[in-house]
Amino acid sequence: MDSHNRDPQKRPLFSSRLSIITVAAGSAIGLGNIWKFPYITGKNGGAAFIIVYLCCIALIGLPVLISDFIIGRRGGGSVVSSFRALAGERSPWLFGGFIALFGSATVLSFYGVVAGWSLEYVVKAASNAFSGKTPAEVGTMFNDFVTSPVAPIVCQLVFMSITAGVVYAGVKKGIEAFSKVMMPVLVGIIVLLCFRSITLPGAEGGLAFLFKPDFSKLSAAGVLDALGHAFFTLSLGVGTMITYGSYIDKDEHLAATAVQICIADTVIALLAGIAIFPAVFAFGVAPGQGPGLVFVTLPNIFAQMPGGYVFCILFFLLLAVAALTSSISMLEVSVAYASEDLGISRQRATLVLATLISLVGVVCSLSMGKYQEQLTFFGKNVFDLADFAVSNVEMPIGGAISVLFVGWMLKRRKAEDELTCHGNITVPFVGAFVFTAKYLAPVAIAIVFLHSLGLI
Ligand code: PHE
Repeated sequence: MDSHNRDPQKRPLFSSRLSIITVAAGSAIGLGNIWKFPYITGKNGGAAFIIVYLCCIALIGLPVLISDFIIGRRGGGSVVSSFRALAGERSPWLFGGFIALFGSATVLSFYGVVAGWSLEYVVKAASNAFSGKTPAEVGTMFNDFVTSPVAPIVCQLVFMSITAGVVYAGVKKGIEAFSKVMMPVLVGIIVLLCFRSITLPGAEGGLAFLFKPDFSKLSAAGVLDALGHAFFTLSLGVGTMITYGSYIDKDEHLAATAVQICIADTVIALLAGIAIFPAVFAFGVAPGQGPGLVFVTLPNIFAQMPGGYVFCILFFLLLAVAALTSSISMLEVSVAYASEDLGISRQRATLVLATLISLVGVVCSLSMGKYQEQLTFFGKNVFDLADFAVSNVEMPIGGAISVLFVGWMLKRRKAEDELTCHGNITVPFVGAFVFTAKYLAPVAIAIVFLHSLGLI
Protein backbone atom coordinates (compact mmCIF):
# COMPACT_ATOMS: atom_id res chain seq x y z
CA MET A 1 0.00 0.00 0.00
CA ASP A 2 2.67 2.40 1.11
CA SER A 3 4.25 2.47 -2.27
CA HIS A 4 6.87 4.69 -3.74
CA ASN A 5 5.22 4.39 -7.06
CA ARG A 6 7.45 6.77 -8.90
CA ASP A 7 8.95 5.53 -12.05
CA PRO A 8 11.81 7.85 -12.89
CA GLN A 9 11.48 6.78 -16.50
CA LYS A 10 7.92 8.02 -16.67
CA ARG A 11 7.63 10.76 -14.11
CA PRO A 12 9.34 14.10 -14.51
CA LEU A 13 11.54 15.27 -11.66
CA PHE A 14 12.88 18.77 -11.08
CA SER A 15 16.52 18.93 -12.12
CA SER A 16 18.21 20.17 -8.95
CA ARG A 17 17.71 21.57 -5.48
CA LEU A 18 17.89 25.07 -6.92
CA SER A 19 15.16 24.24 -9.41
CA ILE A 20 12.89 22.89 -6.70
CA ILE A 21 13.34 25.99 -4.61
CA THR A 22 12.87 28.31 -7.56
CA VAL A 23 9.71 26.60 -8.74
CA ALA A 24 8.13 26.11 -5.31
CA ALA A 25 9.11 29.62 -4.20
CA GLY A 26 7.63 30.79 -7.51
CA SER A 27 4.35 29.22 -6.46
CA ALA A 28 4.51 30.67 -2.98
CA ILE A 29 5.52 34.17 -4.06
CA GLY A 30 2.59 35.78 -5.77
CA LEU A 31 -0.22 38.27 -5.39
CA GLY A 32 -0.33 37.10 -1.78
CA ASN A 33 3.07 38.67 -1.12
CA ILE A 34 2.86 41.80 -3.20
CA TRP A 35 -0.82 42.70 -3.11
CA LYS A 36 -2.33 41.05 -0.03
CA PHE A 37 0.49 41.04 2.52
CA PRO A 38 1.10 44.82 2.30
CA TYR A 39 -2.56 45.70 2.60
CA ILE A 40 -3.33 43.38 5.50
CA THR A 41 -0.17 44.60 7.23
CA GLY A 42 -1.36 48.16 6.63
CA LYS A 43 -4.80 47.33 7.97
CA ASN A 44 -3.44 45.58 11.07
CA GLY A 45 -1.04 48.26 12.17
CA GLY A 46 2.37 47.10 10.87
CA ALA A 47 5.27 45.57 12.81
CA ALA A 48 3.36 43.76 15.59
CA PHE A 49 1.25 42.01 12.96
CA ILE A 50 4.38 41.02 11.07
CA ILE A 51 5.83 39.36 14.17
CA VAL A 52 2.68 37.28 14.62
CA TYR A 53 2.72 36.43 10.92
CA LEU A 54 6.33 35.21 11.15
CA CYS A 55 5.37 32.95 14.07
CA CYS A 56 2.47 31.55 12.05
CA ILE A 57 4.75 30.79 9.12
CA ALA A 58 7.32 29.05 11.32
CA LEU A 59 4.99 27.16 13.67
CA ILE A 60 2.08 26.24 11.39
CA GLY A 61 2.93 27.01 7.77
CA LEU A 62 6.26 25.19 7.77
CA PRO A 63 4.91 21.92 9.26
CA VAL A 64 2.02 21.92 6.77
CA LEU A 65 4.44 22.55 3.89
CA ILE A 66 6.71 19.71 5.04
CA SER A 67 3.66 17.44 5.34
CA ASP A 68 2.56 18.30 1.80
CA PHE A 69 6.03 17.49 0.50
CA ILE A 70 6.10 14.19 2.39
CA ILE A 71 2.72 13.14 0.99
CA GLY A 72 3.67 14.14 -2.55
CA ARG A 73 7.09 12.58 -2.65
CA ARG A 74 6.18 9.39 -0.83
CA GLY A 75 2.91 9.02 -2.72
CA GLY A 76 4.66 9.82 -5.97
CA GLY A 77 1.62 10.93 -7.95
CA SER A 78 -1.01 13.60 -8.44
CA VAL A 79 -2.73 14.95 -5.35
CA VAL A 80 -5.37 12.20 -5.49
CA SER A 81 -3.11 9.30 -6.40
CA SER A 82 -0.59 10.29 -3.74
CA PHE A 83 -3.24 9.91 -1.05
CA ARG A 84 -4.41 6.71 -2.72
CA ALA A 85 -0.92 5.22 -2.83
CA LEU A 86 -0.40 5.90 0.85
CA ALA A 87 -3.84 5.22 2.31
CA GLY A 88 -5.46 2.68 0.02
CA GLU A 89 -8.02 2.62 -2.77
CA ARG A 90 -11.19 3.36 -0.83
CA SER A 91 -9.75 5.27 2.06
CA PRO A 92 -11.68 8.30 3.35
CA TRP A 93 -8.35 10.17 3.17
CA LEU A 94 -8.90 10.42 -0.59
CA PHE A 95 -11.28 13.22 0.26
CA GLY A 96 -8.12 15.24 0.96
CA GLY A 97 -7.13 14.83 -2.68
CA PHE A 98 -10.49 15.73 -4.16
CA ILE A 99 -11.04 18.77 -1.98
CA ALA A 100 -7.58 20.01 -3.01
CA LEU A 101 -8.53 19.63 -6.66
CA PHE A 102 -11.61 21.71 -6.08
CA GLY A 103 -9.60 24.30 -4.12
CA SER A 104 -6.85 24.71 -6.70
CA ALA A 105 -9.35 25.21 -9.52
CA THR A 106 -11.42 27.67 -7.51
CA VAL A 107 -8.46 29.71 -6.35
CA LEU A 108 -7.22 30.00 -9.92
CA SER A 109 -10.59 31.22 -11.16
CA PHE A 110 -10.50 34.41 -9.09
CA TYR A 111 -6.71 34.71 -8.93
CA GLY A 112 -6.68 34.95 -12.74
CA VAL A 113 -9.02 37.94 -12.52
CA VAL A 114 -6.77 39.96 -10.19
CA ALA A 115 -3.70 38.88 -12.14
CA GLY A 116 -5.43 40.15 -15.30
CA TRP A 117 -5.81 43.55 -13.63
CA SER A 118 -2.04 43.68 -13.16
CA LEU A 119 -1.55 43.18 -16.91
CA GLU A 120 -3.90 46.06 -17.64
CA TYR A 121 -2.03 48.19 -15.12
CA VAL A 122 1.28 47.52 -16.88
CA VAL A 123 -0.32 49.01 -19.99
CA LYS A 124 -1.92 51.88 -18.08
CA ALA A 125 1.42 52.67 -16.41
CA ALA A 126 3.25 52.57 -19.74
CA SER A 127 0.75 54.97 -21.27
CA ASN A 128 1.22 57.33 -18.33
CA ALA A 129 -2.46 57.08 -17.43
CA PHE A 130 -2.00 58.13 -13.79
CA SER A 131 -0.09 61.34 -14.24
CA GLY A 132 -1.80 64.49 -13.03
CA LYS A 133 -4.74 62.55 -11.54
CA THR A 134 -6.08 63.07 -8.02
CA PRO A 135 -6.41 60.02 -5.71
CA ALA A 136 -10.18 60.12 -6.23
CA GLU A 137 -9.73 60.03 -10.00
CA VAL A 138 -7.36 57.04 -9.82
CA GLY A 139 -9.90 55.35 -7.53
CA THR A 140 -12.68 55.91 -10.07
CA MET A 141 -10.43 54.64 -12.84
CA PHE A 142 -9.86 51.41 -10.92
CA ASN A 143 -13.51 51.02 -10.11
CA ASP A 144 -14.63 51.67 -13.69
CA PHE A 145 -12.12 49.15 -14.96
CA VAL A 146 -12.91 46.24 -12.62
CA THR A 147 -16.66 46.65 -13.03
CA SER A 148 -16.54 46.85 -16.82
CA PRO A 149 -17.98 43.76 -18.57
CA VAL A 150 -15.25 43.48 -21.21
CA ALA A 151 -11.80 44.89 -20.42
CA PRO A 152 -10.98 42.90 -17.24
CA ILE A 153 -12.21 39.71 -18.90
CA VAL A 154 -9.95 40.21 -21.89
CA CYS A 155 -7.02 40.72 -19.50
CA GLN A 156 -7.98 37.67 -17.46
CA LEU A 157 -8.14 35.53 -20.59
CA VAL A 158 -4.75 36.76 -21.79
CA PHE A 159 -3.29 35.91 -18.40
CA MET A 160 -4.91 32.47 -18.36
CA SER A 161 -3.62 31.76 -21.86
CA ILE A 162 -0.06 32.45 -20.77
CA THR A 163 -0.57 30.23 -17.71
CA ALA A 164 -1.95 27.43 -19.88
CA GLY A 165 0.90 27.83 -22.37
CA VAL A 166 3.50 27.25 -19.67
CA VAL A 167 1.72 24.25 -18.16
CA TYR A 168 1.08 22.82 -21.63
CA ALA A 169 4.83 22.78 -22.27
CA GLY A 170 5.35 20.40 -19.34
CA VAL A 171 6.89 20.22 -15.88
CA LYS A 172 10.51 20.69 -16.95
CA LYS A 173 10.30 22.51 -20.25
CA GLY A 174 7.40 24.68 -19.15
CA ILE A 175 7.11 25.22 -15.41
CA GLU A 176 10.75 24.78 -14.43
CA ALA A 177 12.24 26.67 -17.37
CA PHE A 178 9.76 29.54 -17.02
CA SER A 179 10.30 29.93 -13.27
CA LYS A 180 14.07 29.87 -13.64
CA VAL A 181 13.93 32.88 -15.93
CA MET A 182 11.16 34.78 -14.17
CA MET A 183 12.18 34.47 -10.53
CA PRO A 184 15.49 36.35 -10.96
CA VAL A 185 13.59 39.04 -12.89
CA LEU A 186 11.16 39.29 -9.99
CA VAL A 187 13.94 39.61 -7.41
CA GLY A 188 15.72 42.22 -9.54
CA ILE A 189 12.60 44.36 -9.88
CA ILE A 190 11.67 44.21 -6.22
CA VAL A 191 15.18 45.16 -5.09
CA LEU A 192 15.13 48.17 -7.45
CA LEU A 193 11.76 49.26 -6.11
CA CYS A 194 12.95 48.95 -2.51
CA PHE A 195 15.94 51.08 -3.32
CA ARG A 196 13.74 53.78 -4.84
CA SER A 197 11.35 53.74 -1.92
CA ILE A 198 13.84 53.94 0.95
CA THR A 199 15.79 56.74 -0.68
CA LEU A 200 12.75 59.04 -0.76
CA PRO A 201 12.81 61.88 1.77
CA GLY A 202 10.53 60.93 4.66
CA ALA A 203 10.91 57.19 4.11
CA GLU A 204 11.79 56.52 7.79
CA GLY A 205 8.14 56.61 8.84
CA GLY A 206 7.42 53.63 6.61
CA LEU A 207 10.37 51.65 7.92
CA ALA A 208 9.32 52.33 11.50
CA PHE A 209 5.79 51.21 10.64
CA LEU A 210 7.19 47.92 9.34
CA PHE A 211 9.82 47.20 11.96
CA LYS A 212 8.90 48.95 15.24
CA PRO A 213 6.18 46.91 16.85
CA ASP A 214 3.30 48.50 18.70
CA PHE A 215 1.31 45.63 20.16
CA SER A 216 -1.56 47.87 21.16
CA LYS A 217 -2.49 47.97 17.48
CA LEU A 218 -2.87 44.21 17.23
CA SER A 219 -6.34 42.66 17.49
CA ALA A 220 -7.56 39.07 17.70
CA ALA A 221 -8.81 39.42 14.13
CA GLY A 222 -5.27 40.42 13.14
CA VAL A 223 -3.85 37.21 14.58
CA LEU A 224 -6.37 35.19 12.60
CA ASP A 225 -5.62 37.18 9.45
CA ALA A 226 -1.97 36.30 9.97
CA LEU A 227 -2.59 32.56 10.18
CA GLY A 228 -5.04 32.56 7.27
CA HIS A 229 -2.55 34.44 5.16
CA ALA A 230 0.27 32.03 6.08
CA PHE A 231 -1.71 29.33 4.28
CA PHE A 232 -2.42 31.40 1.23
CA THR A 233 1.09 32.72 0.82
CA LEU A 234 2.71 29.29 1.10
CA SER A 235 0.22 27.76 -1.38
CA LEU A 236 -0.98 25.26 1.23
CA GLY A 237 -4.10 23.16 1.42
CA VAL A 238 -4.88 23.10 -2.31
CA GLY A 239 -2.58 20.30 -3.42
CA THR A 240 0.03 22.50 -5.05
CA MET A 241 2.87 21.54 -2.78
CA ILE A 242 1.77 17.88 -2.81
CA THR A 243 1.92 17.88 -6.61
CA TYR A 244 5.26 19.70 -6.65
CA GLY A 245 6.49 17.37 -3.90
CA SER A 246 5.93 14.45 -6.25
CA TYR A 247 8.47 15.99 -8.64
CA ILE A 248 11.18 16.15 -5.96
CA ASP A 249 14.01 13.65 -6.17
CA LYS A 250 14.12 11.02 -3.40
CA ASP A 251 17.55 12.18 -2.20
CA GLU A 252 16.54 15.78 -1.53
CA HIS A 253 16.39 17.05 2.02
CA LEU A 254 12.69 17.89 2.28
CA ALA A 255 12.74 19.80 5.55
CA ALA A 256 15.66 22.02 4.49
CA THR A 257 13.97 22.70 1.16
CA ALA A 258 10.75 23.67 2.93
CA VAL A 259 12.62 25.99 5.29
CA GLN A 260 14.33 27.70 2.35
CA ILE A 261 11.01 28.19 0.60
CA CYS A 262 9.48 29.74 3.72
CA ILE A 263 12.46 32.08 4.02
CA ALA A 264 12.31 33.10 0.36
CA ASP A 265 8.58 33.75 0.56
CA THR A 266 8.92 35.79 3.75
CA VAL A 267 11.84 37.83 2.46
CA ILE A 268 9.90 38.77 -0.67
CA ALA A 269 6.82 39.73 1.35
CA LEU A 270 9.00 41.95 3.57
CA LEU A 271 10.70 43.46 0.52
CA ALA A 272 7.26 44.21 -0.92
CA GLY A 273 6.51 46.00 2.35
CA ILE A 274 9.80 47.92 2.08
CA ALA A 275 9.01 48.84 -1.52
CA ILE A 276 5.58 50.16 -0.57
CA PHE A 277 5.37 51.63 2.94
CA PRO A 278 8.30 54.07 2.93
CA ALA A 279 6.79 55.55 -0.25
CA VAL A 280 3.32 55.60 1.30
CA PHE A 281 4.64 57.45 4.35
CA ALA A 282 6.88 59.75 2.34
CA PHE A 283 3.79 61.03 0.53
CA GLY A 284 1.72 61.26 3.69
CA VAL A 285 -0.87 58.66 2.68
CA ALA A 286 -2.64 56.48 5.27
CA PRO A 287 -1.32 52.88 5.18
CA GLY A 288 -4.57 51.07 6.00
CA GLN A 289 -6.24 51.50 2.60
CA GLY A 290 -7.29 47.89 2.13
CA PRO A 291 -7.24 46.00 -1.20
CA GLY A 292 -7.01 49.25 -3.20
CA LEU A 293 -3.55 49.97 -1.74
CA VAL A 294 -1.74 48.55 -4.73
CA PHE A 295 -4.11 49.55 -7.53
CA VAL A 296 -5.17 52.98 -6.30
CA THR A 297 -2.80 54.39 -3.71
CA LEU A 298 0.45 53.28 -5.34
CA PRO A 299 -0.16 54.55 -8.90
CA ASN A 300 -0.89 57.92 -7.34
CA ILE A 301 2.31 57.88 -5.36
CA PHE A 302 4.35 56.77 -8.37
CA ALA A 303 2.86 59.63 -10.40
CA GLN A 304 4.36 62.10 -7.92
CA MET A 305 7.81 60.60 -7.35
CA PRO A 306 10.99 61.20 -9.35
CA GLY A 307 11.41 58.35 -11.85
CA GLY A 308 7.89 57.20 -10.95
CA TYR A 309 6.93 56.48 -14.54
CA VAL A 310 9.46 53.67 -14.90
CA PHE A 311 9.00 52.37 -11.36
CA CYS A 312 5.25 52.16 -11.82
CA ILE A 313 5.63 50.00 -14.93
CA LEU A 314 8.16 47.84 -13.10
CA PHE A 315 5.85 47.43 -10.13
CA PHE A 316 2.93 46.10 -12.15
CA LEU A 317 5.25 43.92 -14.17
CA LEU A 318 6.45 42.49 -10.88
CA LEU A 319 2.88 41.78 -9.88
CA ALA A 320 2.14 40.03 -13.17
CA VAL A 321 5.29 37.89 -13.09
CA ALA A 322 4.74 36.89 -9.47
CA ALA A 323 1.13 35.97 -10.26
CA LEU A 324 2.15 33.85 -13.24
CA THR A 325 4.60 31.62 -11.39
CA SER A 326 1.79 31.02 -8.87
CA SER A 327 -1.04 30.44 -11.32
CA ILE A 328 0.92 27.76 -13.19
CA SER A 329 1.25 25.85 -9.93
CA MET A 330 -2.50 26.05 -9.37
CA LEU A 331 -3.29 24.71 -12.83
CA GLU A 332 -0.68 21.96 -12.54
CA VAL A 333 -2.65 20.34 -9.69
CA SER A 334 -5.66 19.42 -11.82
CA VAL A 335 -3.63 18.87 -15.01
CA ALA A 336 -1.44 16.31 -13.20
CA TYR A 337 -4.58 14.61 -11.89
CA ALA A 338 -6.35 14.52 -15.25
CA SER A 339 -3.31 13.30 -17.14
CA GLU A 340 -2.11 10.73 -14.62
CA ASP A 341 -5.33 9.44 -13.11
CA LEU A 342 -7.78 9.87 -15.95
CA GLY A 343 -5.37 9.09 -18.76
CA ILE A 344 -6.09 12.28 -20.70
CA SER A 345 -3.05 13.68 -22.53
CA ARG A 346 -1.32 16.51 -20.70
CA GLN A 347 -1.93 18.89 -23.57
CA ARG A 348 -5.62 18.19 -23.83
CA ALA A 349 -6.05 18.28 -20.04
CA THR A 350 -4.39 21.70 -19.94
CA LEU A 351 -6.62 23.13 -22.64
CA VAL A 352 -9.86 21.75 -21.22
CA LEU A 353 -9.14 22.65 -17.60
CA ALA A 354 -7.78 26.10 -18.36
CA THR A 355 -10.91 26.82 -20.40
CA LEU A 356 -13.29 25.63 -17.68
CA ILE A 357 -11.46 27.50 -14.94
CA SER A 358 -11.34 30.65 -17.08
CA LEU A 359 -15.10 30.47 -17.58
CA VAL A 360 -15.63 30.43 -13.83
CA GLY A 361 -13.20 33.35 -13.68
CA VAL A 362 -15.33 35.25 -16.20
CA VAL A 363 -18.32 34.79 -13.90
CA CYS A 364 -16.19 36.04 -10.96
CA SER A 365 -15.25 39.12 -12.93
CA LEU A 366 -18.79 39.84 -14.09
CA SER A 367 -20.06 39.46 -10.54
CA MET A 368 -18.24 42.65 -9.60
CA GLY A 369 -19.89 44.77 -12.26
CA LYS A 370 -23.11 45.00 -14.18
CA TYR A 371 -24.36 41.56 -13.19
CA GLN A 372 -23.60 41.93 -9.52
CA GLU A 373 -27.23 41.56 -8.53
CA GLN A 374 -27.80 38.32 -10.43
CA LEU A 375 -24.44 36.95 -9.30
CA THR A 376 -24.71 37.48 -5.57
CA PHE A 377 -25.34 34.55 -3.26
CA PHE A 378 -25.37 34.43 0.56
CA GLY A 379 -24.71 38.17 0.51
CA LYS A 380 -21.44 37.82 -1.44
CA ASN A 381 -20.77 38.21 -5.14
CA VAL A 382 -19.26 35.18 -6.88
CA PHE A 383 -15.74 36.65 -6.75
CA ASP A 384 -15.88 37.17 -2.97
CA LEU A 385 -17.62 33.86 -2.51
CA ALA A 386 -14.88 31.97 -4.38
CA ASP A 387 -12.22 33.80 -2.36
CA PHE A 388 -14.04 33.05 0.90
CA ALA A 389 -14.66 29.40 0.01
CA VAL A 390 -10.99 28.80 -0.72
CA SER A 391 -9.16 31.03 1.74
CA ASN A 392 -11.43 30.55 4.73
CA VAL A 393 -12.86 27.09 4.22
CA GLU A 394 -11.00 24.88 1.76
CA MET A 395 -7.42 25.86 2.61
CA PRO A 396 -7.73 25.30 6.37
CA ILE A 397 -9.47 21.96 5.78
CA GLY A 398 -6.93 20.88 3.15
CA GLY A 399 -4.01 21.96 5.35
CA ALA A 400 -5.45 20.18 8.38
CA ILE A 401 -5.89 16.99 6.35
CA SER A 402 -2.21 17.09 5.32
CA VAL A 403 -0.84 17.45 8.85
CA LEU A 404 -3.33 14.99 10.32
CA PHE A 405 -2.50 12.50 7.60
CA VAL A 406 1.22 12.70 8.23
CA GLY A 407 0.85 12.87 12.02
CA TRP A 408 -1.73 10.12 12.52
CA MET A 409 -1.94 7.99 9.41
CA LEU A 410 1.67 7.81 8.22
CA LYS A 411 3.05 7.84 11.75
CA ARG A 412 6.45 8.82 12.98
CA ARG A 413 8.47 5.98 11.48
CA LYS A 414 7.42 6.67 7.90
CA ALA A 415 7.57 10.43 8.29
CA GLU A 416 11.07 10.09 9.67
CA ASP A 417 12.04 7.71 6.89
CA GLU A 418 10.94 10.29 4.31
CA LEU A 419 12.54 13.25 6.08
CA THR A 420 15.87 11.50 6.53
CA CYS A 421 15.85 10.06 2.97
CA HIS A 422 15.64 6.51 4.37
CA GLY A 423 18.19 7.19 7.09
CA ASN A 424 20.79 8.73 4.80
CA ILE A 425 20.75 12.17 6.38
CA THR A 426 20.30 13.36 9.93
CA VAL A 427 17.45 15.74 10.54
CA PRO A 428 16.96 17.52 13.87
CA PHE A 429 13.52 18.26 15.32
CA VAL A 430 11.71 15.25 13.83
CA GLY A 431 9.95 14.73 17.17
CA ALA A 432 8.90 18.39 17.29
CA PHE A 433 7.64 18.17 13.75
CA VAL A 434 5.53 15.07 14.45
CA PHE A 435 4.12 16.66 17.60
CA THR A 436 3.18 19.81 15.69
CA ALA A 437 1.63 17.78 12.89
CA LYS A 438 -0.40 15.72 15.33
CA TYR A 439 -1.61 18.34 17.76
CA LEU A 440 -0.46 21.94 17.48
CA ALA A 441 -1.16 22.65 13.81
CA PRO A 442 -4.59 20.95 13.68
CA VAL A 443 -5.76 22.78 16.82
CA ALA A 444 -4.53 26.15 15.54
CA ILE A 445 -6.13 25.55 12.16
CA ALA A 446 -9.41 24.52 13.79
CA ILE A 447 -9.49 27.76 15.78
CA VAL A 448 -8.96 29.93 12.70
CA PHE A 449 -11.46 27.93 10.73
CA LEU A 450 -14.23 28.19 13.32
CA HIS A 451 -13.52 31.85 13.80
CA SER A 452 -13.63 32.63 10.11
CA LEU A 453 -17.04 30.98 9.94
CA GLY A 454 -18.14 33.18 12.83
CA LEU A 455 -18.61 30.19 15.13
CA ILE A 456 -16.19 31.32 17.87
N1 PHE B 1 0.96 31.53 -2.73
C1 PHE B 1 0.36 32.27 -3.79
C2 PHE B 1 0.47 33.76 -3.48
O1 PHE B 1 0.98 34.15 -2.47
C3 PHE B 1 -1.07 31.89 -4.01
C4 PHE B 1 -1.32 30.44 -4.20
C5 PHE B 1 -2.31 29.82 -3.45
C6 PHE B 1 -0.60 29.70 -5.12
C7 PHE B 1 -2.56 28.49 -3.62
C8 PHE B 1 -0.86 28.33 -5.29
C9 PHE B 1 -1.85 27.74 -4.54
O2 PHE B 1 0.02 34.55 -4.24
